[in-house]
Amino acid sequence: MDNIRNGRFKTGMTDEAAIYTSSLEADKLLFEADIKTNFAHTSMLKHEGIVDEEIADKILCALDSLKEEGYDALVFDPSVEDVHMAIENYVTSKIGPDAGFMHTAKSRNDQVACDVRLVLREEIINIQVGILEFMEGLVEMAGEHLEDVFIGFTHLQHAQPITIAHHLMAHVQALKRDYERLNDTYKRVNLNPLGSAAMATTSFPINRQLTTDLLGFDAYLENSMDGVSTRDFIAESVFDLVSLCTTLSKICEELVLWSTYEFGVIEMADEYSSTSSIMPQKKNPDVAELARGKCAIVNGELVTILTILKAIAYTYNRDLQEITPHLWNSLKVTKDTLSIVTKMLLSVEFKTERCAELAGKNFATATDLADIMVREKQIPFRTAHKIVGRIVNEATTKNMVEEDITSKFIDDISAELGFDKLNLADDLIQRALNPVENVRIRSVPGGPAPEMVEIARENIKEFLNAEFEK
Ligand code: ARG
Repeated sequence: MDNIRNGRFKTGMTDEAAIYTSSLEADKLLFEADIKTNFAHTSMLKHEGIVDEEIADKILCALDSLKEEGYDALVFDPSVEDVHMAIENYVTSKIGPDAGFMHTAKSRNDQVACDVRLVLREEIINIQVGILEFMEGLVEMAGEHLEDVFIGFTHLQHAQPITIAHHLMAHVQALKRDYERLNDTYKRVNLNPLGSAAMATTSFPINRQLTTDLLGFDAYLENSMDGVSTRDFIAESVFDLVSLCTTLSKICEELVLWSTYEFGVIEMADEYSSTSSIMPQKKNPDVAELARGKCAIVNGELVTILTILKAIAYTYNRDLQEITPHLWNSLKVTKDTLSIVTKMLLSVEFKTERCAELAGKNFATATDLADIMVREKQIPFRTAHKIVGRIVNEATTKNMVEEDITSKFIDDISAELGFDKLNLADDLIQRALNPVENVRIRSVPGGPAPEMVEIARENIKEFLNAEFEK
C-alpha cells in the first residue's frame, strides 16, 4: 500500500523506529470514534460542496462497511503509523485513490483530538452511572442502620458516637461530589476540535458547526492552535478519576481496619476475601487491599500526563500521543475498582453489637458531659472542658468506666480545680454518657440523629432519581 512517507522520503522508517513511534496499541480504543469522525467530516465536505457528492458517498459507504466488519478488517504493516492511516488505507482498498479526498481540510492532529474526546465523553458517563449505583446501594444500606450506633474517629482515636448510617452517608456525599466534578469536566470534554486541521485551520470553506452538530458536541473550540494542542481536558478528567479513586481507596482502608480482630466491626463476604497458603485460619481482605493499591496507579497516571504536558511548545507535538494510553489505563483501573468496591462494600455485614459497644466506651461521650455542664449550670464551655478532661484523666488511671462517674466524683474534681460544685443529677450524667442519647440529641442539619440522616437519605434519593432520568 502506498503511504504518506512516499513523497517526502525515499525510504521507510527502520522497523525499530516504526514500532517505537506507533500508537496502534492505544488506538484500538479509537477505532469506532475515528470512523465517526471521518464520517462527520466527509458528510460536512459533501454538504459544503468541497468534495464531489458521488465521491463523498463512496467514502461514506466504505466507512459504513468498515464499521460492520470491525477492527479486524484493518490491515497493519510496519508503514501504518496509527489507526487513522489504517482506516484511510481501508477506504483506499475499497474505492481507490478517491479515498484521499477524505483527508481534505483535515489533519490527524485535529482528528485524534476529536476521537479521544468522543471516547472519553462516553467513558465519563459510564463511570458516572457506576457512581450513582454505588450511591444508591449505600443509601439503602444506611436505611438499615439508621439507629445503629457506632464510634466515630478523629486521628483514628475514639472521638464521638455516630451511627453506621451516618458514616455510610458521609461516603455518599463524597461520591456525589466526584459525580458532579465529572459533570463539570464533561462540559470541557464535549467540545469539537475538528476543523483545526494541522493547527491553522484550512483554506477550504468548512462548516465547523455542522461537524459539531453531527458529532453531538456542545460547541467547537474557538482557536485552532488550542484545538490541536490542548489535552487539559484529559488532565482534568484524570484528576476527577484520582478524586474518585481517593474516595474508594479511603473506603477500602476502613474496610481493612474494620475487618481486623481488634476493630471487629464488620464481616467481609467470603467472595471478597482470601486465605493463606500456610495459616489455615486466615481471612484476608485482599480485594480491598488491591483496590487501595490500584488507586495509586491512577495518581501516577495523572502525574505522568501533567509532566508530558508541561513542556509542549504550541501546537501539536508527538509527545501528545504518549498521553492517550495513560488516559485509557486510568479509565480502566477506575472502572474496575469502582465496580468491585461497590459490590464488596454492599456485601459487608456490620456487627452492630460490637459497633454499639465501641461507641459507649473509652469516654467517646465525654463532649456531652461537658455540654450538659454548659446547658444546665451555665458555666463556660472551656471550664467544662477542663473539668471533664480531668474526670477522664482520673477515671482512666483508676480503671473507672462511664457507669462509675457520679455527681460526687465530678464535684470533687471540680473543687480540686478550684471551681464551684456542679450538683448535676446522676441520671443526667448517665444520660450524657449514653451513646444512643448522644446521637439522638445531635439533631441538627448534617448530624447523626436518625431523623437527620433520614432527611439526608431523602435528599440523595431525590438527586439520584433526577440524575438517573437524564
Ligand atoms: N497517533 C497520533 C497521536 O495519537 C495521531 C496524530 C499524528 N499526527 C502527526 N502529525 N504525526 O497523537
